[in-house]
Amino acid sequence: MPAGSPSSTRSPFSDTESPAVGVKLENLCKSFGDFVVLKDVSFAVEPSEIFVLMGPSGSGKSVLLKHIVGLETPTSGRVLVDNHDAADPVTREHVRMALVFQAGALFSSLSVYDNLALYLREHRVASESAIREKVERALQILSLDKTGEKFPSELSGGMRKRVAIARALVMEPQLMLYDEPTSELDPVMSATISEIIATLKDEYRVTSIVVSHDRDLALNIADRVGILMDGELIHVGPPSELHTPKDPRIADFLNPKVDLKNPRFKKLAT
Ligand SMILES: Nc1ncnc2c1ncn2[C@@H]1O[C@H](COP(=O)(O)OP(=O)(O)O)[C@@H](O)[C@H]1O
Ligand SMILES: [Mg+2]
Repeated sequence: MPAGSPSSTRSPFSDTESPAVGVKLENLCKSFGDFVVLKDVSFAVEPSEIFVLMGPSGSGKSVLLKHIVGLETPTSGRVLVDNHDAADPVTREHVRMALVFQAGALFSSLSVYDNLALYLREHRVASESAIREKVERALQILSLDKTGEKFPSELSGGMRKRVAIARALVMEPQLMLYDEPTSELDPVMSATISEIIATLKDEYRVTSIVVSHDRDLALNIADRVGILMDGELIHVGPPSELHTPKDPRIADFLNPKVDLKNPRFKKLAT
């Protein structure tokens, strides 16, 4: 068991601890013009919990994550991070949070090392030697020791995802948000990413919200799973409930049957 209080997040780079933070959505509604994306979504994520949010493409998962980091503001309702309003820029001074974007959002013209060092150089007063120590440690945690000098285009998809996670880690986040961290990866690489997310929670007690379609990821690492469909949160519960979902919409989402007699797509008129 890692040392320290279970109610605090441990730094991967030193002995310092920060309070573990929770996230609360209260009746979150979001529309773009007349288009309603999120409909009265409420749930709470406990400090140091892994909460996996699943749902079909277009159901509003990425828009929801963006509210937590303040990249979107609610049409109505509230999002609280550690009891501070997520829409208030001051919240990001209180709570260190990092969003790992779906495509990684690495800078293609920078080496892996410089991608990781960028945030530290821009936001912290830290010497180059202190930066080097943190970057090398983050690369080591993600088993990327020998990739510092490489450029993103020289890496496999799985390595790029790990670099994106390493880059988030150097911010010493109390809250990590992942947007489809295993999409486009083979099953073994997906399992590796699941293990990494679970390890960051176990070792450092980082609160984690993971948006994913990956049923195995949810079953293996989630403390709780939420299901978002058409902007509505239709279920929240432990992953064990996904084995035999009672709601036919959830069953169809998790175990869709291919039915050639009644296909879901509309056949072209012939
Ligand atoms: N800035 C925006 N303006 C208008 N529509 C948007 C915007 N961002 C997302 N949407 C729409 O909101 C819906 C939900 O998007 P998103 O949260 O990205 O879905 P997903 O669950 O696949 O992550 C989609 O129909 C998308 O086109
Ligand atoms: Mg998305």
